[in-house]
Amino acid sequence: MVKGKVCIVTGGGRGIGRTIVETLAVNGAEEVYALDVSDDALQGLPDNATGAVVNVTDPSGIAEFVQDVIRRHRRIDVLVNNAGITRDAVINKMDDEQWDQVIAVNLKGVFNMARAIGPEMMEHGSGSIINISSVVGLDGNMGQTNYAATKAGVVAMAKTWAKEFARKGAAVRANAVAPGFINTPMLETVPEKVIEGIRAKTPLKRLGEPQEIANLVLFLASDLSSFITGQVIRCDGGLVV
Ligand SMILES: NC(=O)c1ccc[n+]([C@@H]2O[C@H](COP(=O)([O-])OP(=O)(O)OC[C@H]3O[C@@H](n4cnc5c(N)ncnc54)[C@H](O)[C@@H]3O)[C@@H](O)[C@H]2O)c1
Repeated sequence: MVKGKVCIVTGGGRGIGRTIVETLAVNGAEEVYALDVSDDALQGLPDNATGAVVNVTDPSGIAEFVQDVIRRHRRIDVLVNNAGITRDAVINKMDDEQWDQVIAVNLKGVFNMARAIGPEMMEHGSGSIINISSVVGLDGNMGQTNYAATKAGVVAMAKTWAKEFARKGAAVRANAVAPGFINTPMLETVPEKVIEGIRAKTPLKRLGEPQEIANLVLFLASDLSSFITGQVIRCDGGLVV
């Protein structure tokens, strides 16, 4: 489905990002670059995937990495902005550091990546950018003022880039995916009582699996979604219907 495409996935070392890397690789990508903050997370990738230690908060590291990929492949076809962190607290207990860290990775990190790669896609004439948002960015969530703000922000950025990067006839698309609660290490900090409540509220009565998010990303990365841009698509088992 993504035969011959050059793909970049941030936060590709574990969780949803890792599954996205493997899914793009097994579906014919020419090369999938998995970016993460440490080498440890990037072991055991498929043959047509390459790990790179790149922190999305580091614009000069990103620029160097992007130039290297362009030198090698002459283009980047798919960018998945997946790296994300949580630093939860109700607003009166949220300190500046918690706010700043989440903004730096989840919002400015996504900006950093698209600023480096969007223009390359435009020049090449095609590309697909997929921002991993969250239902929390659409509906809000107790204790996640910082996270919710970033996840709403990446939806707005995708809509903006759908307009900006498609100028001059370039077939560059940008969309956002809003997962519900997905079974990954990120949920380890969420109390079991809260998880139980989410299961009970979800019509499908379970959490999602990383593969179910990766399947949607695969569709948006592929030409099967060639007329879809500027959209946010939920994948949440019907959590809010
Ligand atoms: N798990 C869920 O329930 C859920 C729900 C909705 C949205 N999401 C979003 O999906 C994405 C992936 O979540 P996950 O559950 O797989 O998380 P995770 O914590 O399991 O994995 C995140 C990965 O991102 C990497 N990362 C963190 N900061 C980085 C940085 N500065 N630069 C590069 N890489 C960095 C981590 O090292 C890790 O490998 C996140 O954006 C998250 O907000 C997750």
